[in-house]
Amino acid sequence: MIGIFDSGIGGLTVVSAIMDTLPGYDITYFGDTARTPYGTKSFETVINYALENTEFLLSKGADIIVMACNTASSVATEHLSKKYAVPIFEVITPAVELAVKTSKKKRIGIIGTRATINSGVYEKKIKAMSPDSSVYSNPCPLIVPLVEEGWLKNRETAMIVKKYIYPLKLKQIDTLILGCTHYPVIRNVISRKIGKRVNIIDSSVAVAERIKNFFENQPNMNLGKNGIAHFFVSDITEQFKKTAKVILKRDIDLKHVKI
Ligand code: DGL
Repeated sequence: MIGIFDSGIGGLTVVSAIMDTLPGYDITYFGDTARTPYGTKSFETVINYALENTEFLLSKGADIIVMACNTASSVATEHLSKKYAVPIFEVITPAVELAVKTSKKKRIGIIGTRATINSGVYEKKIKAMSPDSSVYSNPCPLIVPLVEEGWLKNRETAMIVKKYIYPLKLKQIDTLILGCTHYPVIRNVISRKIGKRVNIIDSSVAVAERIKNFFENQPNMNLGKNGIAHFFVSDITEQFKKTAKVILKRDIDLKHVKI
């Protein structure tokens, strides 16, 4: 089974991409809704949460772990990879590889939570793969709550996105990485504001492709393919259910679990 965790509900964008790319694979999702958001927390706290979330998914029988959360991926990847024998996937490297491969002008922008941007991980990875690339980033802390409120088409959302995106537009980037679980939900708004010619890299799609390639190269890994999906959350409210429906475009059964 594919175990996926996120700081909350936003990681369902990754679930959606994995379901599209790897149809039928059994999935267990854990959204840490009781402790969300991670993007404003210290690295140490996020690492501890990531370890606990992984333990939970392993206790449910996960064969691989996918960190859907960009913030957790930014700060906890090494800790998880050192501690656990199962394959650990994070959302940053696949997005960076795709960005480097497709950017013609080598001018790449990144948007994410404050913790993700402050970690500098995207920048470091891009520079390591493509030293002559110019990298520009901007934290966009208001986008997560706007998406969680379902403000997808509101004028205010478009205005806030414009304000965040403007400094990157000035840098004439040709590629923009959506470095946060929630941003694919308003991909159209972001694309309109940065300009249609800018190539948008969605880290949820990039990680799903990475996992698919991994399975193709590991024919001995026989994961369950019964189309079973379980969704666990550490806190449950009507709003979380609504956000889940906004992202997955269908009702899902969220199960409350204490970890
Ligand atoms: N899941 C987080 C991320 O992708 C966004 C929400 C949060 O701050 O916890 O960075």
